[in-house]
Amino acid sequence: MGLLPDTAAVLPDGSLSIGGCSVVELAAQYGTPVFVYDEAHLRARCREAVEAFGPGRAVYATKAFLCGAMARLAHEEGMMLDVASGGELYVALRAGVPADALAFHGNNKSVAELRMAITEGVRHIIVDSFDELDRLEALHAQGLPVPKVLARITPGVHAHTHEFIATGQDDSKFGFNLGNGDAHRAVDRMRRSPAVHLVGVHCHIGSNVFEASNFAKAAEVMASFAGPLDLPELVLGGGLGVAYVEGEEAPSITQWGNVLLDACQALGVRSAVSVEPGRSIVAAAAVTVYEVGTVKHIPGLRTYVSVDGGMSDNPRPVLYGSGYEAFLPRDVGAARPCRARLVGKHCESGDVLIFDAALPADVRVGDLLATPVTGAYGHSMASNYNKLTRPPVVFVSDGAHRPVVRRETYEDLVRCDLG
Ligand SMILES: Cc1ncc(COP(=O)(O)O)c(C=O)c1O
Repeated sequence: MGLLPDTAAVLPDGSLSIGGCSVVELAAQYGTPVFVYDEAHLRARCREAVEAFGPGRAVYATKAFLCGAMARLAHEEGMMLDVASGGELYVALRAGVPADALAFHGNNKSVAELRMAITEGVRHIIVDSFDELDRLEALHAQGLPVPKVLARITPGVHAHTHEFIATGQDDSKFGFNLGNGDAHRAVDRMRRSPAVHLVGVHCHIGSNVFEASNFAKAAEVMASFAGPLDLPELVLGGGLGVAYVEGEEAPSITQWGNVLLDACQALGVRSAVSVEPGRSIVAAAAVTVYEVGTVKHIPGLRTYVSVDGGMSDNPRPVLYGSGYEAFLPRDVGAARPCRARLVGKHCESGDVLIFDAALPADVRVGDLLATPVTGAYGHSMASNYNKLTRPPVVFVSDGAHRPVVRRETYEDLVRCDLG
């Protein structure tokens, strides 16, 4: 199955192994639901990005999936990291990633977050608004050092993706619009401001983008804006799409690099070009393993197969209508002739993991079901809705497995309760 992590293999009994570990045994040991990440796959994608864009030019967007182990892994493999909140900054620093390997994002950074980023000494702050500039100037007036900054530009490029994750169009909460002159005004002000040291410009047109032409267009718009500014850095964001369902195809990181770097070269860009991939590094590295709890047939209407997780560990189907596949780890190659709705255990009808899942005919209560390509924006977007405990994350590699995030406990659910 092309959607599985790099080291996925079928064992002689037809069951699935990842990283040399039996997925059925992992589920028995760690319980379900569980996120299983192929460490070799993660490392290979980080290396591919560093190779494609050059050392210091590939920045892992931690919002896709962040825990201490992932932050360290990306850093070990030579990536910089982008963080988009004080919380992400804290987790990356606590993992031992040096501040000067971190870029700080966000369309509404608080004074406290900006103070933290400057005091810790992050490599870049990507300035998103005039209000943020006001805050940076106020912090400078209080004696904080001058941070190196990039201006986030909204290039007016429509990415072909879901509207919630398209960010480069004029009608966006992010960045300084190029079309209405804000981008030029922001850059002028930053150049004159004693509170910031402007080193470059940045754009991010959206996430899960498959069409190379969208990226080439953004590069063209940004190159013509950045050219006369003659700044050392040009960051073209993340956004490379990945295949979630059979038959889908996405460019590789290497191909994406070729499109972007060729476009920049052809446009005469002199700045160093960086990117911020998140999804394309981690999405296909993981599968989520669930256990089936109920199977409900409604003759003439539909079959519902319920598993022990749902929208709390994977909100993407509900948020974006995203598609996934599901199969039996005990019999990876089994034909999947049945159509059913794969749902979670939350108290709402919208709690859907796969709207029209292809499933083996003999799916039964107690079976494990695995959904591939859940490594990005699954664990990181997970919630405690209905007070479900968030699943553990297990890294597998060379026949060994290690939990890098434990399952939450009921005690965790009341840890912040004061009443
Ligand atoms: C500024 C920025 N950079 C990078 C990314 C990562 O995008 P992706 O995970 O699609 O590569 C995002 C995602 O929203 C983003 O907002």
